[in-house]
Amino acid sequence: MAELEPNSVPRHIGIIMDGNGRWAKQRGLPRQAGHRRGAEVFKEIARACQARGVQVLTMYAFSTENWKRPKEEVQSIMDLLRRFLKDAKKYRKDNMKLRFLGDRAPLAPDLRALMEETEEGSASNTGMTVNIALNYGGRDEIVHAVRTLAQQVREGTLNPEEIDEAEISHHLYTAGQPDPDLIIRPSGEFRTSNFLLWQSAYAELLFMDVLWPDFTPQHLDQALEEYARRNRRFGGI
Ligand code: IPE
Ligand code: IPE
Ligand code: MG
Repeated sequence: MAELEPNSVPRHIGIIMDGNGRWAKQRGLPRQAGHRRGAEVFKEIARACQARGVQVLTMYAFSTENWKRPKEEVQSIMDLLRRFLKDAKKYRKDNMKLRFLGDRAPLAPDLRALMEETEEGSASNTGMTVNIALNYGGRDEIVHAVRTLAQQVREGTLNPEEIDEAEISHHLYTAGQPDPDLIIRPSGEFRTSNFLLWQSAYAELLFMDVLWPDFTPQHLDQALEEYARRNRRFGGI
């Protein structure tokens, strides 16, 4: 890490935590065991990102499409999250700000309450911001933003001419945060599965052939080295 210039560390990293099920299957374990191990890796990698000077980390935990999975699997993911949030106080010393991205309406009331407590309890922390994308979909997020803007036009508080890129960004779950510089997808799949659609317009994409539960800080360092070699042009020369 010593050789990376501070300005070549991405300000905002997004990670699609994929491959838990395959990891479990390889070991003859239930899929839940993969999710459990994935949650441990989440904590380890969040700390590693903070140690490397990342300012915002967005972790994709559950997509708007993941409701298609068997009820027991959805339940086990939600239970893992509950446990993580109940333990969250233990991580106070990490000084991270925790935030949730996604539509909360379909989530269980006790889980929503825990999410709000965690956000409020960590809001004054001064370290890295960790966004957990939960019941998150990039298209769903844009639909919500458009609906809010349409409402304002109908109420006469917004002119259609005032709707620009900044106005739309301002109504996304990530309002006020920088766009992701780097998006990492482990598990060997080459797609972003509805993750940060609007925000990733100029993100560097990195697909890695490792399952999320096997992801280590060394994989993170490989990703950061690869990112530092990329030449970002943003349409310029
Ligand atoms: C990612 O791992 C976790 C979630 C999507 C909730 P998967 O459960 O998708 O694992 P694979 O892709 O089946 O291996
Ligand atoms: C993307 O993984 C969503 C999360 C990691 C939370 P999926 O496993 O749901 O993606 P697809 O179905 O392979 O595209
Ligand atoms: Mg998957």
